[in-house]
Amino acid sequence: MLLTASIYHHLDWAFPAIICNDRPSAQGLRSQYFDKLKHLFRIQLRGARRSMVKCFLSWGNYLLPKTIIMTALLGVVTAGIFSSESLAQKKTSKSNAPIAKNTKGPNACAECHKEEAKVWKKSQHFKTFRELPRSKAARDIAKRLDIKRIKSESLCLNCHFTSQKASKKKVKVIAGISCESCHGAGKNYIDIHSSYSGKTKETESEAEKSSRWKTAESNKMIRPGNIYQIAKNCFGCHIVPFEKLINVGKHPAGSSFELVSWSQGEIRHNLWHQPDKGNQEASIERRRIMYLVGLTVEIESSIRAVAVSEETNHYSVKMAHRVDESRKKFLAAYKLIPKFPELEAISAASYEAGLKLNNRKALTQSADKIASQIQIFLTKHDGKQLGAIDSLLPKKNSYVGRTEETN
Ligand code: HEC
Ligand code: HEC
Ligand code: HEC
Ligand code: HEC
Repeated sequence: MLLTASIYHHLDWAFPAIICNDRPSAQGLRSQYFDKLKHLFRIQLRGARRSMVKCFLSWGNYLLPKTIIMTALLGVVTAGIFSSESLAQKKTSKSNAPIAKNTKGPNACAECHKEEAKVWKKSQHFKTFRELPRSKAARDIAKRLDIKRIKSESLCLNCHFTSQKASKKKVKVIAGISCESCHGAGKNYIDIHSSYSGKTKETESEAEKSSRWKTAESNKMIRPGNIYQIAKNCFGCHIVPFEKLINVGKHPAGSSFELVSWSQGEIRHNLWHQPDKGNQEASIERRRIMYLVGLTVEIESSIRAVAVSEETNHYSVKMAHRVDESRKKFLAAYKLIPKFPELEAISAASYEAGLKLNNRKALTQSADKIASQIQIFLTKHDGKQLGAIDSLLPKKNSYVGRTEETN
């Protein structure tokens, strides 16, 4: 009874994520018996399940070798969430990199944005351009995936590089992760965004200014004010939502990315609009928004990463675990600011769809819901009313890659 109940309640992978990284393949172990079990044990045990399993495992240690218990347990769990149909489906990967035919390259941006470029050149995003192809770890990953040259057309270009179209057929890698990786490929907005509508900063009217920005945005510029889009981009790379890269290539399954702490250290370049103030930290109101948006986009992106998973393995387990962790953090924040209906909807949607294989439609629907709710929330709030979550915001000493200058 105890055993079967825990099996059912750990279908959402939080369980294997905690106790086991390498899972035995269990195709063929699938059985109708499992479906019956599912029916029998529709009991809500959410809070109790971890301790139950822990207890069961330590208890099991005395009875049977752990590996046998593990294989049996995971075998049944895996069998339930596997289906040959999902294994057959292949999903084409979506790139996070700016489109090569529309990139201008960081030097073009630096013509006007010198100070921002200086900061960028000290970041890991800049350095990866030279360091990655030389690293043994990178070559090993590439080898496992049959990739001959990391800097030619490979999966690695999705996240580690900025490319540009060199000729009709050729694409050339020109930089690491650069301005356009985060602000969008510049070709169609570079002139307009900086034009002051053909006037000067002083003589451009408000109407002209707003129409200029509107055009820049519809030409794919991602502005700092669009924190949702900015965050989507960061997570698009940092979650590493590529199953084969992780399961076969043994690439790290995502970084411990959190938006405030990861954007306010070495990345920070708030140097343009108030140059006399130095490289200031984002305001407290903005950091509150960043924190909430970061968690929301993390839930959204990791749910999508689970949705495209095709086998139960390291990747699926890690991604499901990430959903679980981020929605718990979100819930903790939401409890401190319970009066916002959009946040309530996000919290509900994040628990709506089962974290299992073959559930793409439901998972995508919850991710879509989460995405639309946070965007509605952002049209209404600027962070002033969110002071109750201040205790949760990352402290300065946790800012990633913080240097003296960005103190
Ligand atoms: C010819 C000079 C020039 C070039 C080249 C240039 N910018 Fe700008 N950029 C500006 C000016 C001017 C502004 C401020 C406009 C304003 O405040 O109304 C600006 C503002 C920005 C902003 C802030 C937008 C906001 O919402 O506050 C970003 C981000 C930006 N540029 C990114 C880039 C990127 C990326 C590139 C390269 C693809 C680039 N810029 C190239 C002049 C330039
Ligand atoms: C979906 C985005 C994405 C793709 C595609 C990708 N990487 Fe990465 N890679 C990352 C991120 C994010 C990190 C940082 C991980 C961290 O901090 O844990 C990283 C880190 C690395 C590291 C450093 C790992 C370490 O041990 O510190 C290596 C090596 C690497 N990638 C190689 C590659 C190679 C080779 C490819 C192409 C086959 C590739 N990556 C494709 C996102 C990606
Ligand atoms: C890792 C993603 C990333 C990269 C790479 C990046 N930016 Fe940004 N940029 C941001 C974010 C995020 C903000 C808002 C930061 C904040 O609120 O603390 C921003 C803000 C800006 C601003 C407005 C600053 C202000 O004073 O308010 C400008 C201008 C800008 N970026 C230009 C650039 C240029 C030029 C480059 C390349 C040299 C670049 N960015 C590279 C993410 C990035
Ligand atoms: C196009 C993909 C991509 C985007 C977009 C992106 N990153 Fe990264 N980022 C990476 C990769 C890949 C690495 C690891 C590079 C390496 O180690 O070689 C990395 C590394 C970093 C690091 C250094 C981590 C360390 O351990 O030193 C920070 C900080 C960071 N990213 C923050 C951000 C933030 C904040 C954003 C969004 C505003 C962002 N990144 C957007 C791909 C991306």
